[in-house]
Amino acid sequence: MFNTSDGEVTLSSGEKTVRFPTVTGTEGDVGIDISKLRADHKRITLDYGFANTAACRSSVTFVNGDTGELRYRGYRIEDLAAQASFPEVAFLLMNGELPTKAELEEYESELSGHTLLNEEMKRMFDAFPRGAHPMGILSAATAAMSTFYERYHNPRDAESVKESTIRLMAKLPTVAAFAYKKSIGQPYMYPRNDLDYSSNFLQMMFGLPVEPYEIDPVVARALDVLLILHADHEQNCSTSTVRLVGSSEANLFASVAGGMNALWGPLHGGANSAVIAMLSEIDEDGGDVDKYVARAKDKEDPFRLMGFGHRVYKNFDPRAKILKEFASDVLERLGVNDPLLEIALKLEEHALTDDYFIERKLYPNVDFYSGMIFRSLGFPVRMFTVLFAIGRLPGWMAHWKEMIEDPNTRIGRPRQVYAGHTERDYVATGDR
Ligand code: ACO
Repeated sequence: MFNTSDGEVTLSSGEKTVRFPTVTGTEGDVGIDISKLRADHKRITLDYGFANTAACRSSVTFVNGDTGELRYRGYRIEDLAAQASFPEVAFLLMNGELPTKAELEEYESELSGHTLLNEEMKRMFDAFPRGAHPMGILSAATAAMSTFYERYHNPRDAESVKESTIRLMAKLPTVAAFAYKKSIGQPYMYPRNDLDYSSNFLQMMFGLPVEPYEIDPVVARALDVLLILHADHEQNCSTSTVRLVGSSEANLFASVAGGMNALWGPLHGGANSAVIAMLSEIDEDGGDVDKYVARAKDKEDPFRLMGFGHRVYKNFDPRAKILKEFASDVLERLGVNDPLLEIALKLEEHALTDDYFIERKLYPNVDFYSGMIFRSLGFPVRMFTVLFAIGRLPGWMAHWKEMIEDPNTRIGRPRQVYAGHTERDYVATGDR
């Protein structure tokens, strides 16, 4: 049993009472500081999925899952999505403040000055099998980038950190586009430094050396907004991975490559592709949405509605709310008539009115709508999680930097409650 008073919590068991200090965040969350629990009381906590455990204090992003609020460095996601550009948001996440006009120009010019990959890296793309998953290539290429920039590995040197964050941010779209071109057997398109971040990525993805590529401003802005919406989400699975890898003082490229692998899973960033796979399956199966809703509710069936539910948002996902409106606008402006959209809307309606989903507070998440928009912009499904990774990069880097600069950071090393055999004697092979 515990109660909070005067910045501490008391935990009582029988006659014994122990006190723990509490830490209060700027938005009122209270954390019980148990860092002396093991040393003083020989106890540890057990918390599957770290659902109740803060591993750091952070000033990057605030999420309120009950009210559906998301803010980067204090700025509402709705305002940033409506008014900012992706590099502007990246600067904000990395530096804590919105850039002045001059700072933004300088940042954009630093980014466009580093978009090229070392030519030797091109051979690496060639080594992958045709059709290799672009997420595998992306994380391998990001780890490989560390070999070209060993001079910037020292996480304690501010100049090295700055140079490595600029390079990674500038080159990731080039890596992503090369991974895609490799997968379809088309020639790599070099970056164009006269274009903004998203437009340049589009021309590397969809352009061909034999003809000019015309940038559609609707598509470029839609991509920019999607990247902004994905830019950070506090201590999610991939960001925690980046922090954990980085806590061993591994370099930025190695840490971010770890985060990309965590993002790939279908319960995290892989969900946006899983949504389209699910909608296509429903479509091919005759479009019977009820059948799939029933399957999702059946505890004997492992099937889940992809794009529904969230560990933190138990009201609605504010990114999904922005994207829902944005999706219909973009699809209409691009004149896209996608049969999967109809199924998505039906599914959404069923789930939002079904008691199973209402009771469990399962709402469409960002991936439910982002997949539909990425598809309408012309991106193949296998690139969706790569797009998520490009968007999430500033968040990963901001957290990595914050973790390195925090004097309280220790190497991440969870404990366990051992549940295996007690000591036993070795038995020779012939006697088993
Ligand atoms: N379809 C059907 N039932 C679901 C779903 C779903 N998508 N999500 C959760 N549930 C049910 C669970 O079976 C459980 O039911 P129970 O209480 O009867 O046992 C209850 O809702 C709670 O679910 P948990 O798995 O405990 O919730 P958790 O917070 O651990 O998981 C997660 C969150 C992983 C996002 C989950 O909702 C899920 O698997 N969703 C589908 C995948 C997805 O869309 N992922 C993207 C997340 S957003 C992002 O990464 C940007």
